[in-house]
Amino acid sequence: MSIQSLPPVSSLIIDCDPGVDDAVALMLAFAAPELELLAVTTVGGNVPAHTTQRNARILRQIAGREDVPVHGGAERPLKRPPAGAGEFHGPEGLGDLEPFEPTGIIGDGPAVNAIVDLVMKRPAGSTAIAVLGPMTNLALAMKRERRLAEHLGPVVVMGGARSEGGNITASAEFNIWADPDAAAVVLGSGCEVIAFSLDVTHQVRATEERIRAVEKIKTPSAKTVASMLRFSQRIERRIVGWPTPDWGAPLHDPCPVAWLIQPALFELRPCRIEVETVSDLTRGHTAVEFRVDPTTARHRWAVAADAQGVFDLIVDKLKAPE
Ligand code: BDR
Ligand code: CA
Repeated sequence: MSIQSLPPVSSLIIDCDPGVDDAVALMLAFAAPELELLAVTTVGGNVPAHTTQRNARILRQIAGREDVPVHGGAERPLKRPPAGAGEFHGPEGLGDLEPFEPTGIIGDGPAVNAIVDLVMKRPAGSTAIAVLGPMTNLALAMKRERRLAEHLGPVVVMGGARSEGGNITASAEFNIWADPDAAAVVLGSGCEVIAFSLDVTHQVRATEERIRAVEKIKTPSAKTVASMLRFSQRIERRIVGWPTPDWGAPLHDPCPVAWLIQPALFELRPCRIEVETVSDLTRGHTAVEFRVDPTTARHRWAVAADAQGVFDLIVDKLKAPE
């Protein structure tokens, strides 16, 4: 099947490493009745795996979505030591939010089993997976079940960089850099991949005005999102810089989730994406080839976003009764 004729997706798994922007993405998904959220699976990335798993359960509890199972996943990348991005997410991964021990239980079985089981028991092409951290869990699931790649619906990824350059090295984005070998497995598997890289997430910035719009909503989920956005704003000012008064921190992980809810918010281009796994200098670089046959291309690269539309969507969903 060509990427131009994706089947309607009925269900979704979110694989993530919360992470302040993962937290916003989860709150958006938890609040979106359009998405049948089958499970949240977690992976070591921004913070260690036991912390991302706990954080996902904290967020689930705040959102009142204990119906969604959370499965803990890979502690380390396929071939490399664990990375970490605590300076952008806080030592506990949730910025200023004081972590607590969540009451909701951990899902039965590890993330890899959950991904394989949930996808394989549903009709081919009907289950999407949004990967918002290193792609370790999905790569391991593909190794475990060889038919997974052809049975999956779209794999919607936050990762990569082309025109924007990298955010962890000169040419690599964090999620791909953290586990380039896993990204290579997924991108080479033949499944449909839609990549939301820094090229597009850097267009979606949480300006002061946009943060204030979220702060006006007084639900627990909205307060959590606002706290994540305020934390990122402070970190961006301190670590990256603040070139103009109306600047804002980029909102990475909510982009693929927003696309699943409202695809018209983004412009995509068919392409072929390959990942550098050998060179130390350019480890995790995404080589994006747009000179492909659009009728057979398996990958798409988001090139433009309606940033205000993404924030309006977040506000709209967070306003809805929980
Ligand atoms: C990505 O890296 C992580 O730190 C964020 O959660 C996001 O998934 C951005 O490069
Ligand atoms: Ca993430």
